[in-house]
Amino acid sequence: MWKPPNSRKIKLPVVDWPSASTARQSLWFSPLELGGCKLEQRTWVPAMVPWRATDQGEVTPAVIDWYRRFAAGQPGAIVVEATGIRDVPSGPLLRIGHQRYVEGLTQVVQAVREASGGRTRLFIQLIDFLAIRRRVEAVKFLTRFLTIDDPLRERLGLAGESSDRAREALLRMNEERLAEVLSPRALEELRQGYRERVTDVDLAHIRELPQQLPKLFADAAARAKLAGFDGVELHYAHAYTMSSFLSALNTREDGYGGPREQRIRLPLEVYQAVRDSVGGDYTVGARFLTDDIVAGGSRVEDACYFGARFAEAGMDFLSLSRGGRFEDAKQPKVGQAAYPYTGRSGYECMPSVYSDERGPFGRNIADTAKVRQAVRSAGFETPVVACGGIHSFDQAEAILRAGQADVVAAARQSLADPDWFLKVREGRGSEVRRCEFTNYCEALDQMHKAVTCKLWDHHDLTEDEPRTADGRRRLVAPAWRREDVATPRA
Ligand SMILES: Cc1cc2nc3c(=O)[nH]c(=O)nc-3n(C[C@H](O)[C@H](O)[C@H](O)COP(=O)(O)O)c2cc1C
Ligand code: SF4
Repeated sequence: MWKPPNSRKIKLPVVDWPSASTARQSLWFSPLELGGCKLEQRTWVPAMVPWRATDQGEVTPAVIDWYRRFAAGQPGAIVVEATGIRDVPSGPLLRIGHQRYVEGLTQVVQAVREASGGRTRLFIQLIDFLAIRRRVEAVKFLTRFLTIDDPLRERLGLAGESSDRAREALLRMNEERLAEVLSPRALEELRQGYRERVTDVDLAHIRELPQQLPKLFADAAARAKLAGFDGVELHYAHAYTMSSFLSALNTREDGYGGPREQRIRLPLEVYQAVRDSVGGDYTVGARFLTDDIVAGGSRVEDACYFGARFAEAGMDFLSLSRGGRFEDAKQPKVGQAAYPYTGRSGYECMPSVYSDERGPFGRNIADTAKVRQAVRSAGFETPVVACGGIHSFDQAEAILRAGQADVVAAARQSLADPDWFLKVREGRGSEVRRCEFTNYCEALDQMHKAVTCKLWDHHDLTEDEPRTADGRRRLVAPAWRREDVATPRA
């Protein structure tokens, strides 16, 4: 993973956990209306893909176990992982693109209701993404995938010659020479693998995204409602289709790109279609970026504008993330696809302790506060969810008290210890298994391997615990054995 220049290992801050009564009186453990539903607390587990669905995107017992385990900690809300809205093969990514997925998803909802005693609200993140292919050997790319057009023939000094002649010439070139003659896009494909983008309007299916996506999202949201979810989170963040429409890198000239007002048009149309499909009292929010981080991308001023417009349109919550884009992704090895969390923007999305002096904790908070302020200045009270490097009660509480956000989410800390919200609330914070922010889990995600936390395996595996296929790792966090522990702080 990318690290800031001159990075060093930052120590985990010493944490002073609250007593049960302090936690009870805190903002973080206080309720909040979120559109048509009520959060019992402002604690939140954001979307995390655990790679446990079938290759057809169906719910498995391991998916149910994963969410049941988070629900045992009784957070205010859990957002189910990015779930594909189309009925197309997408590997083991959870899907909601057809009615046949509703039954499995209903079981996830039931498991969360049971395990949390009805205290946790459950949302599902709806995602659309464009095609990306693995990087191939240069020879294969030049002989099979590269399109030979007239400008390329001219750059090769082979105007009017056959494609075969052009390919022969290219095959004799070294990388430096190839960089001179290939178009920037072809060169990128050679180095990174093929990746579609929202600006590829020469492709009919990309040109028609504004006509197709509203219905795809709306139908998926209707299925989520049918399955019993309390609401949906539209995935407008990171490297995917909707975030790419919002990005300043979107230069489409069909009214859906260019200035902010046009880049937000499709995200608003998608939201409106979803709202029409699920009705006014169903919770619908979006996750988007405070900053794309990549060169030429959107900045916090854009995010402030987007936030105010989303609030005006009637969204029930705004969840802010940061970075996680393809444009600065590391070069993948031959046979692998580019991964959007490997460059600087990926670092800003999931910062690790190998960091600059700012450290990995709360790097997105100042910008989140700016977006919230813009929403408030525009006259809306829409709740804003903050995320990124949250590791302690004091930190979350300070964010809420300072009015920087209305809900505070924690992904990796909740993965390390799904019971941590409950432990803190009961005055047993000293028992929290603290995330080390070294991103072992993220490396597994990158390889599309079952995500687990390295800390789960510090205890011996018992016979009856579900494990990964190689038998080595726990698939869910070890149980919290309360009887082992000291008296809680009252
Ligand atoms: C294994 C893993 C999978 C993730 N999957 C998603 C996802 O499906 N959708 C999403 O918006 N963010 C995803 N994220 C990002 C997290 O929601 C969160 O924004 C990020 O980890 C930073 O928060 P943290 O510091 O609390 O971990 C994922 C993070 C991890 C570690
Ligand atoms: S593997 Fe566990 S300890 Fe490491 S970053 Fe992920 S959640 Fe935190």
